[in-house]
Amino acid sequence: MTPWHLARRAERLNPSVIREILKVTERPGIISLAGGLPSPDSFPVEAMREATTRVLRDTPREALQYAASEGYGPLRDWVAAHLNAQGLSVDADQVLITTGSQQGLDLVGKVLIDAGSRVAVEEPTYLGALQAFAPYEPEVVTVPCDADGPLPQALGAARGCRFLYVLPNFQNPSGRCMGEARRAALVQAARELGLPLVEDNPYGDLWFDAPPPAPLASRWHEGVIYLGSFSKVLAPGLRLGYVVAPKALMPKLLQAKQAADLHTAGFNQRVVHEVIRDGFLDRHVPTIRARYRGQRDAMRSALERHMPAGCRWTVPNGGMFFWVELPQGLDATALLPDAVERGMAYVPGAAFFADHPRANTLRLSFVTVAPAQIEQGIVALAQTLAAAMAVQEAA
Ligand SMILES: Cc1ncc(COP(=O)(O)O)c(C=O)c1O
Repeated sequence: MTPWHLARRAERLNPSVIREILKVTERPGIISLAGGLPSPDSFPVEAMREATTRVLRDTPREALQYAASEGYGPLRDWVAAHLNAQGLSVDADQVLITTGSQQGLDLVGKVLIDAGSRVAVEEPTYLGALQAFAPYEPEVVTVPCDADGPLPQALGAARGCRFLYVLPNFQNPSGRCMGEARRAALVQAARELGLPLVEDNPYGDLWFDAPPPAPLASRWHEGVIYLGSFSKVLAPGLRLGYVVAPKALMPKLLQAKQAADLHTAGFNQRVVHEVIRDGFLDRHVPTIRARYRGQRDAMRSALERHMPAGCRWTVPNGGMFFWVELPQGLDATALLPDAVERGMAYVPGAAFFADHPRANTLRLSFVTVAPAQIEQGIVALAQTLAAAMAVQEAA
């Protein structure tokens, strides 16, 4: 008999459905539209190589030593300046550098959630946030949403919640982007309710047509925690993100960070600062946008030409995902093995709902696969759906 007794929170940890699916898609020959990974062709390998050399030449001992839990000062200054240019009002001492924004979600959960306290999320929402919050044992409340995001008039459902977790820009998984009027109305409704917001924004820089409206954090300084990431504009392997929090929360977030991992890799922070300090992102990010826009167009065109009638999708104006709704009665989880058999994979949408999963939804990523393969993958998906619809009709 095992001598180990698992903590209750460990029992609440689940394997990510997406990671399980990704294992299947690693099989050779499968066109995976499932992953949420950025395109490796967008990684700035040469700039990283040069910056690494400079850091090791100029500050090798500092870069390899333990460092401050808050993060590398010049990088915190850069983040504050970057956000202030977008309309926020941030001091560098409100910036906590984290090991990816995923760690930011964990720290927010650790500091703000008690067992049994209520936390509100969008419908659908980022699976990784649900996983990050789950060990802190919240009761998760879903706020009704439309194509523009959470409905301000429905925010009463979140009354008394510790916070509403919200992704205004090119949401994972739905791809939707909240318009200006909705942002204003949502923040106003949240203020009236005294409902703080946790705004997660890893995709905001990846717009295709026009930049998204200003962040929610620019509209309510003391009521919003803002999370950002270098994963989608540089590379996720760096594991570099940041939390920007109202000053009153910073000491607790910092203590949680200290307890978690002392600090985010100082070496990575210095290399990234060395890469971006001279405006590199202003030159680099447009190349990612152009690449992803082309792939988005390829997927839109393939969907329009191949999908059977009755399927609907939103065309994203940024980010990495299409969100597809199948006719009622079709179950994307049940259909996945057939799709894989036909050579493609997607993520069933059910995983992204905190409650009442909508079985007839799925997420498609367009960024890691070349346009010709996108076409092939959508043809395989369309064949899977057409076969299922034929069975449905015959029944
Ligand atoms: C909405 C959202 N938040 C956070 C993350 C985590 O990103 P990071 O690599 O910064 O930890 C992701 C990653 O895909 C994401 O989609």
